[in-house]
Amino acid sequence: MSFSNHLTPLNTFIAQKDRNQLMGHPSFAIWLTGLSGSGKSTIANHLDSYLFSKGIHTYILDGDNTRTALSADLGFGENDRLEHLRRMAHVAKLMVDAGIIPICAFISPLEIQRKLVKGIIGSSHFVLTYVDTPLSICEERDVKGLYRKARMGQIKDFTGVSAPFEVPENADIVIPTEQQSPEESVQVMINHLNQRYQLSL
Ligand code: ADX
Repeated sequence: MSFSNHLTPLNTFIAQKDRNQLMGHPSFAIWLTGLSGSGKSTIANHLDSYLFSKGIHTYILDGDNTRTALSADLGFGENDRLEHLRRMAHVAKLMVDAGIIPICAFISPLEIQRKLVKGIIGSSHFVLTYVDTPLSICEERDVKGLYRKARMGQIKDFTGVSAPFEVPENADIVIPTEQQSPEESVQVMINHLNQRYQLSL
């Protein structure tokens, strides 16, 4: 059921471009996709710190954090993941509208999910980054001990073990974490942003 028949959108006096002017930079969402343990959160933190040091207004949205709050009612089945990512995309879109650059670290394993979030945020404001770490490496690291549990059948629908991960076909940036340090990865991302959004970071 939809309740949207009797809603009248508020036209705000202040638009995104005004907020971008106030902030001193454009706003867009950086979306990191990749397996659990691939390094999304680490790269998000390094990028966040770098941009923060340059006076850029950023904010990290992370799967583990948001799943204890806004998406606390959702699990890891396909429908729940889609709803979780739909919500996160809307949060990211609000941030972009508010002049902030959200750095979104979510496994977002399926093309259909990434297509949905890109559609919500808008392709011109969406930077898809694939944190490309092979499953064997994520599993070997097993930072949170979840792969071991998943292999023992203690966690169901675990990405890479009992749930699929589709390699993105159209990522703007690919980060091969085995071959690049987080600092080098940040530099690659900054180069992309400089070129795409005419920045000089
Ligand atoms: S997503 O698929 O819906 O995008 P999200 O990034 O929000 O996932 O959350 C992933 C995190 O939840 C993982 O890093 C891990 O710590 C935890 N987690 C718990 N159960 C699962 C599961 N079944 N599959 C993947 N991650 C899980």
